[in-house]
Amino acid sequence: MRSLTREVETPVVTTAGAPWPVTMRFGPGGQATVAGAGLMDIARRFGTPAYVMDEADVRLRCRAYRAALPRAEVAYAAKAFLCRAIAAWVRSEGMSLDVCSAGELAVARAAGFPVEKIIFHGNAKTPGELRYALDEGVGRLVVDDIAEINRLAALMPAGRRQKVLIRVIPDVEAGAHAAIRTGGEDQKFGLSIASGAAAEAVRRVLGQPRLELVGLHCHLGSQIVSTDPYERAARVMVRLLAAIREEHGVVLPQLDLGGGHGIAYVSGEPALSPSRLALAAATVVERCTAAGLPVPRLTVEPGRAITGPAGVTLYRVIAVKKALRHTYVAVDGGMSDNPRPALYGSRYEIRMIGRATRAGERDYTIVGHHCEAGDTLAEGVRLPADIRPGDVLVVAATGAYNHSMASTYNMTGRPPVVAVSHGRARLVVRREGQEDLMRRDVGL
Ligand code: LLP
Repeated sequence: MRSLTREVETPVVTTAGAPWPVTMRFGPGGQATVAGAGLMDIARRFGTPAYVMDEADVRLRCRAYRAALPRAEVAYAAKAFLCRAIAAWVRSEGMSLDVCSAGELAVARAAGFPVEKIIFHGNAKTPGELRYALDEGVGRLVVDDIAEINRLAALMPAGRRQKVLIRVIPDVEAGAHAAIRTGGEDQKFGLSIASGAAAEAVRRVLGQPRLELVGLHCHLGSQIVSTDPYERAARVMVRLLAAIREEHGVVLPQLDLGGGHGIAYVSGEPALSPSRLALAAATVVERCTAAGLPVPRLTVEPGRAITGPAGVTLYRVIAVKKALRHTYVAVDGGMSDNPRPALYGSRYEIRMIGRATRAGERDYTIVGHHCEAGDTLAEGVRLPADIRPGDVLVVAATGAYNHSMASTYNMTGRPPVVAVSHGRARLVVRREGQEDLMRRDVGL
């Protein structure tokens, strides 16, 4: 890999601060560059809306994890955003990969991601997905249901053993929004320790000669900014490892604490840095030592903390409309390329770029062009008072759960992804055009 030092002048912001990519620079006259590439040039060349990904930022974030947790396995959670370019970047940074569907596995394989470093998740893997995962030879499969155990064993070709983890519910509630909390009882993910389902799954997997139980998994939720839930989960998980040794005389070599590490979406918001996460790793070591257990290899699965702050979205302003109380700035994208504000009430930081202005600032509501009143990207955004159609807006921290959650609502094609590094911008995912959308409609 080429050196990144030339373009990286500041260290990755991992605790609090601006949510922009590490190579983002705002200059005079509305200039804005990422990795030395002008965002206005990108908007002209690739059109808007467009997602722009800073390769250096992604790589530095991978490195920050690997440095903070040198003995752990760091698996990038592909659901945050996967395309072949991202798969290649994280692979070359020594990361493993967490996939949760056949589609994500297919992208990973198309990028040549080594199967032994792939972890396959899913609370309801279809028979087709299980077969595909086994055919590809994924490194580990995460069992999330008791019935899945027999199904999996039956699909295993004779003479092969599949490594599995069991996903359990540690009963630790954490996460920024109810829709993204997964560590508590009574939701669709994982097997309850309290109900005995987790213990039953352990017994059954150990009883299947074609399955090899290598460890336990849990995932608490997303956008977690404190280490406390991870430390609590670590204690619960080590207790379960000790109970398994007690009951079965088996010492499991792996412990996967999932992802969910929070990032700053707007300036000043806290984030969970990999170095603070190392506290949870220390809890595992301490508790294992106290229980006389060998320390398992830890896995963490960051998604948004790898790609979220590396991405920005460019939009062009289409209309500026004064309503009774609010002034609306409508752009050429919206809830189809970023559904997060509508789904979770997420906040985003937005700036105008591309020209100088002496006008003061005022508050605007930024809305999309979709046929829905809830299609709001951000409220109370300070922008120049003379903002007008044709201006370009840049939105921070859209590198995760934007492209991957994008829809084609109102028959809108999904935006392209432009990767930037060393002053160069290149298309890594092309824009979805009307012909792409129409191709699926086979008619009468
Ligand atoms: N590992 C597992 C098993 C997961 O289910 C997830 C996320 C992750 C890792 C990565 O979580 P992250 O570090 O990216 O928070 N659409 C929502 C997020 C849903 C996350 C689901 N699972 C959002 O836009 O906030």
